[in-house]
Formats: sequence, structure tokens, C-alpha cells
Amino acid sequence: MRKAFLWALLWAGACSVCSGAKSSRPRNYETHDYYALHLDSSTSPQEIADYLNLEHDGQVGDLPDHHIFKAPKHAEDIVQDAIQDLKRRRRRKRDLEPHVLDSIKYDQKQVLRKRLVKRSVIPHLEERARSGVEAKEERAAVAKELSIADPIFDEQWHIYNTQEVGNDLNVTGVWLQGITGHNATVCIIDDGLDMDSLDLKPNYFAAGSYDFNDQVKEPKPRLSDDLHGTRCAGEVAAARNNVCGIGVAYDAKVSGVRILSKPISDIDEAESVIYGYQDNDIYSCSWGPPDDGQTMEAPGILIRRAMVKAVQAGRAGKGTIYVFAAGNGALNDDNCNFDGYTNSIYSITVGAVDRMDRHPYYSEKCSAQLVVTYSSGNTDAIHTTDVGVNKCTKTHGGTSAAGPLAAGVYALVLSIRPDLTWRDMQWLNVMTAVPIYVDGTEWQTTALGKNYSHQYGYGKLDAYAIVEAAKTWKNVKPQAWYFAPWIHVKAPVPQGDKGLASIFEITEQMLTDANLERIEHVTVTMNVEHTRRGDLSVELRSPSGVVSHLSTSRKTDEAHVGYVDWTFMSVVHWGDSGVGKWTVVVKDTIENEHTGTFIDWKLKLFGEARDEKVAKLLPLPGEHDDDADDSFLPSPFPTFGLSKRTQVWMYGALALILAFCAGVGTYLYVQRRKRLRNAGREGYEFEMLDEQDDEEVALVEGKRSGGAAKPSRQRRAGELYDAFAGESDEEELFFSDGEGSEDRRYRDEDEGEESDANEKAGSPR
Ligand SMILES: *[C@@H]1O[C@H](CO)[C@@H](O)[C@H](O)[C@H]1NC(C)=O
Ligand SMILES: *[C@@H]1O[C@H](CO)[C@@H](O)[C@H](O)[C@H]1NC(C)=O
Ligand SMILES: *[C@@H]1O[C@H](CO)[C@@H](O)[C@H](O)[C@H]1NC(C)=O
Repeated sequence: MRKAFLWALLWAGACSVCSGAKSSRPRNYETHDYYALHLDSSTSPQEIADYLNLEHDGQVGDLPDHHIFKAPKHAEDIVQDAIQDLKRRRRRKRDLEPHVLDSIKYDQKQVLRKRLVKRSVIPHLEERARSGVEAKEERAAVAKELSIADPIFDEQWHIYNTQEVGNDLNVTGVWLQGITGHNATVCIIDDGLDMDSLDLKPNYFAAGSYDFNDQVKEPKPRLSDDLHGTRCAGEVAAARNNVCGIGVAYDAKVSGVRILSKPISDIDEAESVIYGYQDNDIYSCSWGPPDDGQTMEAPGILIRRAMVKAVQAGRAGKGTIYVFAAGNGALNDDNCNFDGYTNSIYSITVGAVDRMDRHPYYSEKCSAQLVVTYSSGNTDAIHTTDVGVNKCTKTHGGTSAAGPLAAGVYALVLSIRPDLTWRDMQWLNVMTAVPIYVDGTEWQTTALGKNYSHQYGYGKLDAYAIVEAAKTWKNVKPQAWYFAPWIHVKAPVPQGDKGLASIFEITEQMLTDANLERIEHVTVTMNVEHTRRGDLSVELRSPSGVVSHLSTSRKTDEAHVGYVDWTFMSVVHWGDSGVGKWTVVVKDTIENEHTGTFIDWKLKLFGEARDEKVAKLLPLPGEHDDDADDSFLPSPFPTFGLSKRTQVWMYGALALILAFCAGVGTYLYVQRRKRLRNAGREGYEFEMLDEQDDEEVALVEGKRSGGAAKPSRQRRAGELYDAFAGESDEEELFFSDGEGSEDRRYRDEDEGEESDANEKAGSPR
């Protein structure tokens, strides 16, 4: 069954190549406007083109029913204007006859934007005396055995560190087995790749390369600061020769896709992340939205869909591997969970550690970070290839330089195990990363028995360990998921170190029904209204008490919105069964005039299926979120084969009945609230209806009045949570689980101000 599916995918892939349905590049944004339209599959793009007087210009990436249209440049949005016009006509005439525009599920006129930034930092290096005579001899022996004569090999401490012995990728033992990246291809999506560099030329893969900025085939660096992509490429696959240094996977192929040098449209970005996705195995992305501690930005729907497409169909169905640099905004309190690329379940988020095995000041932390690897710090940076025929650099740094090293290691893994899926690769990271205990960072032991820190993820990548584990790794079963209903909270968030908690309980039965055996990724989508976003923090506690800091406060984030349908991600609960009570705690960490309300949240668990025979592929994201306003009855509504006019009557009547029921419901609810309020409690209290099993859960905010250090607990009918009572400034949180079993105690690990202090104490300046 699975095989048949793979064949179908392959066949579909091959067919779209031969049918010419592919998008036609180059695009010329100076003379033309471009539109991305998601159409009903029953409508031919030509009908739309004819009606709107547009030219059909192929498909968006390989996305089914996503088409590109173009027209000579025009100030207006031709598609939206037509849709709005139809809407007006319908309102006037009450005309509900089907119309060709009804087949548009999503439309976006393309604008060129420059919203992604490179994640390099300029290292400030202090001179250090060097020693380590023995290690040097060993390195020389390895170089001799592998015939490595690259002139800067000795400077490449990330490959073989003769000074801080052991603080390197531990890769030479892999090379000595002949595992050097054959048959694996890494694509560097960046500001270009100098294919004329003698260090890159031998491994350059032209067929997987493209320049979306200049709309030409060769991603040649053209601007004076187009250095970044070439440096990243050198880290991955600089050839073993007499030029500069050597890549981690020096026999792998490397391609370049250029997107960072000029503003680009969403169509182009979507196509860039899926470009050549049957040949490019791994995409290395050392960029993202600005790391200024104020940005909260995710890729648009076309880009997210393209990534899912590649993960489901790339590498002949095994799934494209995306590697993203965690981000360099730690000094700005930035957190990689505010970045929709790094917090995607489809990307491996890689942070940095310096050659002392310390946290470099810039590397962001977050619960979506999987691993760290080496990059610049106070004493050294990454030595790699530079733009030019025979040019090297010693100053490549930031999480930008960490991501490609990980991508290179994954190329080594794929070269011996091309059958591993994108999730196998993430599992291997979790299982083999080596925790770093040198500074004061706190680690917590997870459900899987691994240690996790938000600063280092599961630890640093060890090439030898991951390749050894890969040799005998048994593929995990397909993905399955459980999506909880929206939990409506709608209560004010208390200020200070108190939190507002909301709980959702997952039963064994729910997971059996969902075919979910154990968890890998967890996401929480939430809405919190707040007049200053930077004041908020959110944590997620698993049933066993493992804590994910989904978001942390940001000192300069002044945005007057809270979180609007934002999805946070965590890899901290990897391997958990998922059964039990999951708690989200929202805090308003700063006592000031800015306040907010926790509106609602939705928990999603992704993981391994119980029964692979019934596993399905996740639908592309947001299929129903973005239906055009006036498209009549989005697809979740059955039409019963009736005419639209009849449907209007039918659904109209249904709506009236529902409105009546809602009215009665609201009345009863209000009455109930009144009764509760009259119960006369000192603390604030609110109620939450658990939609899943109609079990009632009431939450109570912790009380700290009167200087009482002891948590107060109350119980009442149903389940009652004494959510939190803080104890002094250590932030110890208590709650009873309402069923009379013993209290659990949680220690707040490393949040907000405290962690800031840790960071500063932990890293040399
Ligand atoms: C590093 O590689 C060596 C072999 O070269 C191996 O013996 C050692 O166990 C590896 N380290 C880890 C942490 O796996
Ligand atoms: C690369 O792949 C080809 C085809 O699958 C295979 O024949 C060859 O042995 C592989 N090379 C290496 C070095 O693994
Ligand atoms: C995890 O950390 C604890 C200390 O916090 C330590 O005792 C334990 O051995 C560590 N476990 C692993 C797997 O490293």
C-alpha cells in the first residue's frame, strides 16, 4: 500500500514535469503583475484566465490546483476587484447563480518584499595562545590517512579541535569509514553560491540550483555582500583538494538557490523551498525574519504548503530535510518560537555553541530547538570557503554557520541511509545529541529519558554518534496526530509571576482513535489579547510535568497585540505517550499598565502512528482557513447536491435554529456565571467548558495576598484547579490536580529575567 503510494507520487512527479504544468520562469516583475490562485480542482485555469483577462503562467511549485497568472503591470488587484465586484452584484440582485470566480479558494497578488535576513554575526575575536601538541599529531595522522591537503584544514577546529579537545563535530572517525557524503545533495537557500570557487566547483550541482532574485539559472553571488551562501556551502561540501578547507560532507553535492539578495514574492519563495526537491535532499536555511526581539512572523500559506509538499513527497516520499538556523537575537530576548520557520515541525532548528562549548551571546533558545553545533564565539569563528576563485574566510559565524554544519552531518547520514524519513532524521538527533553541562544551564529529563535544555536543545550534534545510530536505525512508523478542540478561556491574565492556567485532558481512547502511539512534536495555537506583547510568556506542562517554555517575555516587543492565532512548537515532549492533563500557563510577567486576556488555545500532538496501515498524510495547511470571502459555502459544508438557492434556504433555516439554541445557551450560561459569582470567593474565578467530553473544569488563579507563602487549594464539584500560588521570587508553582492525588511540584526552569542572568553569567564577554 505504501509502495503503491510512493509509486503514485513518483509518477505524479514525473508527469508534472512532462505535462509542462510547471511554473514558467523567469518572471519579470518590472513589466508584469503575478497572481497566485488556489482553484477548485474542477475549474480549469484557462477559464479563469479568460474571464479575468489574465495569462495562465503555470503552477506554483508542485502544489496541486495552485496556479500562477500574469498580466501587464496595473495598479489595482485585478482578481480581488473582480471578486468584490461580483459580491456587490450579488448583494444588489440577490443573484446566487454559480460563477466562475466561485472556484477561487485563495488569491494573492504578488508583492516583492525583503523580509528575511541572514543569520550571520561578525565575530570579535581575542587572540589566544595555542597549544595541544598531541592532538595536533593525531590530526596530522588523520589528514595523512585521508589524503587531506587543504591548506586551512588545520584552522578548521570545528572538524578537529586540537586545543579544546573533543569540542568539534567528531567527524573524522566517520570519514575514516569512507562515509563522506556520496549520493547526498544539500541545497543552500541563501544569497548565492560561487560555483566558480575552486573549492566548490567539484561538488556543485547545477541542476538543483536557481536564482530567484535575478530570475536566471545560475545563483552566482552578484552583490558585494553576497558572501553568506558561499560560506555556508563551503562548510557543507568544500572539496578535498588544495583550496581552503574541507566540508563536513566533502563528497556530497551542493546546490544554491538565491533568494536573499533582493525583495521576492511569495510565489518565488514557495518555489525556492521546493526547488528540485527530488534531487536536493536537504535544504540549509541560515536566515529568517529579523531577530530584533520584536518580530513575530511566519511564512505565508503558499510557502508553508510548499514545505509540507516537499516533506511529504520529496526524496521519493521519504521527505525533504529542512535545516534552519535558530536565530541570533538572544541579546534582544528573541526566541526561535517567534519565528514560523524555526518553529515549524518540518524544520530541524539548529542553535550555536562556541569552541569552548559555551553558549554564544547571540544564539536564541526555544522549545522548538532540536540541537546545537559549533559556530563563532569570543575566541574563534568558523573557517571556510569564501566568494572568489581561491578565497577563504576565518570569520563566518552566528547560527548561520551552525545550520550548514548540521546539514553536512545529515548528508553523511543520508549517504548511508537514504531510506530514512524526515522524522527518522529528527529522531536520530534526539537520540544521539550530546548534552553540554559546562555552564549553569538547567536541563530537565524528558519522558524519553533524554535531557533537554531550551538553550542547547537535546545537546550538540556528534557526527560519529548519529552516523553509528543511523546504521541500524529502524524506520519509525508513519506520522499520526491528535488535534484537541479549541479551549475557550477568555479570562484576564494576572500580572507578575502568577500565571493563568488552562487544562486539557487527553485520554488513552482519544489517542487510540487518533492512531497515535507516541508524541514527537507538540504545537499550541493560541489567542491572547494584550496591549504589550513583550510582557507575555507561555509554558506548556505535560502530564508528567515536563515543561516547555513556549514563549518568553521580550523586553523591546511593544506590539499592541498579543498572540493572534500564533502556533508555538515544542520538541521537549518527544517520546511521551501524550495521555493525561496538559496545562498551558499564560503569564503577564511585568506589573504595569499593560494587561491582557487569554482567549483560547488548541493543542496538537504529532507523532508516530500505532497502526501504519491506516496512517494518512496530513492535509496541506490551512486548506479551509483562506477560502475567499464570498466563495459560497466552504467545502466542510455538505451541499447535498442541491442548488445554491436551495442551500441558502436550508442553511439559513439551520442558522436560525442554531442562533436560537445559542441564545438559550447563553442565557443559561449567564445564569450560571451569576450563581458562581454569588458563591462569594475572594479570588478571581472563571469557568471553562471542556468541549471534548463535556466535563466541567474550573480554574482558579493562585492567591498571594496577605503574604501567605502557602498555596491555597480549593475543591468543588467537577474539577477545580488551584492553578498557581507563587512562593517568594523563586517562582515555585504548586497545584493540586483536583482528584485528591498528591500535589506535584514544579520548578520554573529558566525563564525571563532569570535566564537572562544565567546567560550573562555563563558566557565570557
Ligand atoms: C566520537 O568518535 C569516536 C570515534 O572516532 C568515538 O569513539 C566516540 O564515541 C565518539 N563520541 C561520541 C560522543 O559518540
Ligand atoms: C550511490 O547510489 C547508487 C545508486 O543508488 C549506488 O549504486 C552507489 O553504490 C551509491 N554510492 C555510494 C558511495 O554509496
Ligand atoms: C540528565 O541530567 C541529570 C542531572 O540533571 C543527570 O543525573 C542524568 O544523568 C542526565 N541524563 C542523561 C541521559 O544525560
